[in-house]
Amino acid sequence: MLHGQCRGQIDHVAPLTLTLACLTIQYLFFFYMKANRTNSPEWNCIHTNDSATMFPTNFAWGAATSAYQIEGGWDVDDKGPSIWDTFCHEGGRLVFEGQSGDVTCNSYELWEEDLRCIRQLGLTHYRLSLSWSRLLPEGITQHVNQKGLRYYNKVINDLLASDVLPMVTLYHFDLPQALQDQGGWKSPEIAAIFDSYARFCFETFGDRVKLWITLNEPYVCAKLGHEDGIFAPGVKEPGMAAYLVGHNMLRGHARAWHSYNVLYRAKQGGSVSLAINSDWAEPLDPASPDDTAATERYLAFTLGWFAWPLFVTGDYPEVMRSSIEVRSKELGYQEGSRLPRFSKDEPSLLGTADFFALNYYTSRRVKQGECCPGVLGLKSDQDAEGVVDPSWPVCGVSWLAVVPDGLRKLLKYVKDTFNNPAVYITENGFSQVGPVDMEDVQRCGFYHDIIQEVARALREDGVDVRGYFAWSLLDNFEWADGFSVRFGLFHVDFSRPERPRTAYRSGREYAGIISKYRSQTMVNT
Ligand code: NOJ
Repeated sequence: MLHGQCRGQIDHVAPLTLTLACLTIQYLFFFYMKANRTNSPEWNCIHTNDSATMFPTNFAWGAATSAYQIEGGWDVDDKGPSIWDTFCHEGGRLVFEGQSGDVTCNSYELWEEDLRCIRQLGLTHYRLSLSWSRLLPEGITQHVNQKGLRYYNKVINDLLASDVLPMVTLYHFDLPQALQDQGGWKSPEIAAIFDSYARFCFETFGDRVKLWITLNEPYVCAKLGHEDGIFAPGVKEPGMAAYLVGHNMLRGHARAWHSYNVLYRAKQGGSVSLAINSDWAEPLDPASPDDTAATERYLAFTLGWFAWPLFVTGDYPEVMRSSIEVRSKELGYQEGSRLPRFSKDEPSLLGTADFFALNYYTSRRVKQGECCPGVLGLKSDQDAEGVVDPSWPVCGVSWLAVVPDGLRKLLKYVKDTFNNPAVYITENGFSQVGPVDMEDVQRCGFYHDIIQEVARALREDGVDVRGYFAWSLLDNFEWADGFSVRFGLFHVDFSRPERPRTAYRSGREYAGIISKYRSQTMVNT
């Protein structure tokens, strides 16, 4: 039943101890799961005696996907190539077994199958992303691809006809290659080009779409795509490019938000934000001032990097700026040459988020970094090391220690730090690797636990949580991990041309959770 996917991540523990610890955790988890399962009907198998955990009636129950990860149809119907097409095709050495998103779930052709899954889950909301280069093959509004337009119009209309509200992300890692050829996110001009694309989307779909995400996880685009070079476009310029890319992404987001605010808000009445990913982080030794300071830097260089400008000061966190300046001095860089400054002549960043869009997957305990002072790089600037607590199961992909209560702590931190914003959890999930397990009991337990944590954040901590989007509706192309890591509520058989979708037990469990809570109303709001 359990596939030995669950493991700790501590380097200094001997392999035998590690194996024993892992087995113990697996068995504890297994018996815990058994104790919490009932023989209730398939589509309503959630068991909880916690009748107090109720959600507001208008709570968004969602699942999320992104264009490159599910659509396929990479070059059909006049779509232009994106940086992920190029990254996977040119060498693809960094992607698991040289795989690509050329076909993946083939949602471009099989959208109606996805809709069936969405309806089966009883979702109230579905988060999807638009492929910029499917709509605008060269990235610019002078050439609109009518077939791409037709596709997204159908998706949006079908969702609405099924009583499911779309949350639409404009950019989820897949820059049109034509724009990359002009410098991509490193080029200052990209902010205005992104703004025109955003306006085009607001104008075209905004009569029906009321929840917008401009950019997904700018941290990942900056760090993995331009510092480590392991995501498209594969740029490896440590300590330099990531800050520039993050800066231009923020400038592009701010312009798009202001465009919506001035041109569309009054007539369309929607909301716009930016999806920020963050681990929850706390000091390895809470009594250690060094660990506490390192934790502050850890959060500043992930969550704070993109949230501070929008919610707090209009600029980067002070500790981020000062850490980079100290390191820059040591290395002989001029002040402000690595972490750029926002110009007063440009649209301001502060206040450019109508809600907080949070992607949460995992947690870390943090200690002072062990990185050498003379090294140029984001890690060395950050000078903080995140470790996995031995009690946390690591299930599926290696970075994902499963820590449901980390989400509650992070939500409370967001409330306290960013002035109690409305929050949508725009992504959260649990992965599977190795042999397919359709009876994925661990993932069922995970969804049960995480939703209890969301309920506690709402009811006990007073966090204004508006919705929860599971990642992901379908097994899909998990970037550099290809198809080796599966996050879906529905299994997709990638070996068959029809790409059949079948609900995992966790899909049925999530449907049960949604149906249970949708039928209740919030007490004590
Ligand atoms: C966040 C990203 O937005 C999504 O594309 C990815 O698949 C998940 N994390 C899981 O790694």
